Amino acid sequence: FALKINSVRQGEPPLENGFLPYLGCALQFGANPLEFLREKQKKHGHIFTCQVAGKYIHFLTDPFSYHALIRQGKHLDWKKFHFATSAKAFGHGSIDPAEGNTTENFHQTFIRTLQGNALDALIEAMMENLQYAMLQSRASKLQSNTWVTEGLYTFCCQVMFESGFLTLFGKEFNLNNDKNLSSNQENERARILNALENFKEFDRIFPALVAGLPIRLFKSAHSAREKLGEALLHENLLKRDNLSELVTLRMFLNDTLSTFDDMEKAKTHVAVLWASQANTIPATFWSLFYLLKNPEAMKAATKEVQSILESDGEISFDGKHISLNRKQLDNMPVLDSIIKEAMRLSSASMTFRIAKEDFTLHLENDFYSIRRDDIVALYPQLLHFDPEIYADPLTFKYDRFLNENGKEKTDFYRSGRKLKYYYMPFGTGTAKCPGRLFAVHEIKQFLALIFSCLEIELVDNDVQCPSLDQSRAGLGILQPVNDIDFRYRLKCL
Ligand code: HEM
Repeated sequence: FALKINSVRQGEPPLENGFLPYLGCALQFGANPLEFLREKQKKHGHIFTCQVAGKYIHFLTDPFSYHALIRQGKHLDWKKFHFATSAKAFGHGSIDPAEGNTTENFHQTFIRTLQGNALDALIEAMMENLQYAMLQSRASKLQSNTWVTEGLYTFCCQVMFESGFLTLFGKEFNLNNDKNLSSNQENERARILNALENFKEFDRIFPALVAGLPIRLFKSAHSAREKLGEALLHENLLKRDNLSELVTLRMFLNDTLSTFDDMEKAKTHVAVLWASQANTIPATFWSLFYLLKNPEAMKAATKEVQSILESDGEISFDGKHISLNRKQLDNMPVLDSIIKEAMRLSSASMTFRIAKEDFTLHLENDFYSIRRDDIVALYPQLLHFDPEIYADPLTFKYDRFLNENGKEKTDFYRSGRKLKYYYMPFGTGTAKCPGRLFAVHEIKQFLALIFSCLEIELVDNDVQCPSLDQSRAGLGILQPVNDIDFRYRLKCL
């Protein structure tokens, strides 16, 4: 053990022990992961090991090595880390079938209920719920035709949380009644917005929980998580209509395959709620923010949406209700490129795999000894901000992911070689986000609805782009450190 702490065995990658005993590189990495990794990459080359809080993390920084992680998957475990993190953060018992609480294969459940045919139903429900959360619930504000000023992040949070919540967890009332919100509807709305406040309170300390701090250190976040759990108890979910297939199946599997108690079952739903919102909200914000800052992008996006709305006979657009089906949403390359570019600039996800045994990691031209329980990690922001791959990498270019024919661009190069991995906000390999298709569709639906129904502008056109909140680095799409004011009003249809 002593040998491992201080030195590198033959054939192992170069080691950075960091300045601090035990914490190792944790603080330097935490302060600015991108800069830290770039500096170490300059010093050591394309693979190096960092000791972080007693763990050994081998970073692969050459995108041509990324596939090594997938090719040598049999030596690497992706579930252990996910299972442990989920149990720690959400407070349910272990979901690792090896530990005996459940035999559910969560990943299979997610794929089955978020992709394929299941996605059609999600998209359909989301379209309706978005119109409710964005327009109908704001009817009194929007009627007077005066501008409404709000924080853009606050707006994205409210609209995406409310509509996403309704889409996954159903509703207690009928949203088709768009006349006046009945008191029933208002109560339901207040409950969801209250859940949003609890979600934000809990989400704020999420990085600390992942880092291993116990939730009891954070009294209000702890209570917020418990309240979210109570709202998602099976007995409460059973009172709701139109539960998604995802939630229905998860409830069934909780009841039939697990020994979880009621609150633990509910907390597995809190985990799904978090996964469905925590990245989607900031991704929606960045997509809309960059559009508002780039008139050329806004023009191209609006044109694309309008031409689909006008040309496709299947669309019902009567000034009150807009429906865009999956096929129509799949035919929006400009919006795809905008969302990708916004996520390229704001994503800081990290891919972790844990070595199941001592093994030799084969990279392109060399190989390294990896010890059991060590972590092999990718930090794709290095790739997303690489000027050789993305010229002028800090600039938003709405058409960066479009080719000369206006279709999706897939050829990106480094050192003259075509890259297989050039865009990774959703992770990679078997653990890749199962909700990625739904996520992109819902952001497109959100944008399409805005272009169709609202006039929208920044209060200050010269406003600076907010910085990324680095405290969440490694966890996905980073939030802005401050909100930005914008205003909107109903379009004259
Ligand atoms: C996992 C990103 C939206 C459900 C993940 C992972 C990433 C990610 C990076 C981990 C993958 C890995 O470890 O390699 C994102 C981003 C989103 C988004 C950037 C939005 C822009 C969604 C949505 C849902 C969802 C909308 C569900 C409705 C999940 C689930 C997992 C996951 C359930 C855990 C998968 C598993 O452990 O089997 N996501 N996600 N995500 N995501 Fe997403």
